[in-house]
Amino acid sequence: MTSAAEQRARIDALFEAGTLPRADLRALIDGRDSASADYLFEKARIRQTENFGRDVYLRGLIEFTNYCRNDCLYCGIRRSNRSCNRYRLSEAEILDCCEKGYALDFRTFVLQGGEDMAYTDADICRIVSAIRMRFPDCAVTLSIGERSTESYQAYFDAGAERYLLRHETADPAHYARLHPPELSLENRVRCLWDLKRIGYQVGAGMMLQSPYQTTDHIVTDLEFLRQLQPDMIGIGPFIPHKDTPFRAEPAGTAELTLFLIGVLRLMFPAGLIPATTALGTIDVRGREKGILAGANVVMPNLSPTGVRGKYLLYDGKICTGDEAAECRFCMQQRVRSVGYEVRVSRGDAPRFRAAAARGCSAPPGAASGKD
Ligand code: 5AD
Ligand code: FES
Repeated sequence: MTSAAEQRARIDALFEAGTLPRADLRALIDGRDSASADYLFEKARIRQTENFGRDVYLRGLIEFTNYCRNDCLYCGIRRSNRSCNRYRLSEAEILDCCEKGYALDFRTFVLQGGEDMAYTDADICRIVSAIRMRFPDCAVTLSIGERSTESYQAYFDAGAERYLLRHETADPAHYARLHPPELSLENRVRCLWDLKRIGYQVGAGMMLQSPYQTTDHIVTDLEFLRQLQPDMIGIGPFIPHKDTPFRAEPAGTAELTLFLIGVLRLMFPAGLIPATTALGTIDVRGREKGILAGANVVMPNLSPTGVRGKYLLYDGKICTGDEAAECRFCMQQRVRSVGYEVRVSRGDAPRFRAAAARGCSAPPGAASGKD
């Protein structure tokens, strides 16, 4: 039993210290109700406003391939899903997405895909540097899974400055129940530390309420994040996909995701925390509520309409029939509806802002014109 006063005391302590002992974090999460959630979100908005005002950053998501060598049990584009209609975008098609995105005020392009080895490191580097040359005031984020240290270094040298790689769950045994035997939490974590060491702005995060997840696992996730100190933290509810082994598992709730967004904002006051598409899928106003819980990033889809319906990690994904411009303006409306404003900006992590302003983020190779 947790009383309202105990919940408030935990939230106050988290607000002040940015952290809580393990047992208190678990009690805070397990003891959540709508009153404690409201109080948490109020505190989260204080930290959000101190660090970002009422700004929400836009990221243009380009889902450039749905081929994947992996077989994660939760994911709709896993390699053993024979019903998935596969596609790859060419370099020209990707640049075309960026062109449209630039005109729509995007200053960050997120290239996301399955682990598709048909794009060699040289291909990825060429695409990244082509985007950086054509749009020098934009950032490129990669989200293409687990690679070698050398590959990560090569992409960084080509001008990619940010990398998203959710850890999914920081408990090794839980990790093993969500992934095939050839994938390990150990390698995932190796990748994240490599990315940090190389100098990327790094994004991690977990799925919430994935099969077998306990509150204890979530607390382990929070402790892992505290060690890693990522610049970006993406979380969202697990949602089943009909062609995966988890097809009959229950979806996560917006309620828990929102509560964790609030907790994360208090733990990472300057973090870039998106209100994700999965949250918008599970609740029609999920993204707006996410912002009010402390999120400060939205990621409208820039993928060509012809392929959107094919990048389905889970069932019911929203925005699969919309044009890029529709998503952009729909998002602006949603953000405004809760009193925030989308910013035309790269939206760098605060600890990287000074470097970006000094021009330290110019794409290496841009001056010489080589890849
Ligand atoms: N439900 C919710 N999120 C999912 N992801 C993958 N499959 C699902 C699913 N079934 C998330 C993972 C991955 C991100 C790109 O999408 O967290 O890192
Ligand atoms: Fe592609 Fe998991 S199924 S990375």
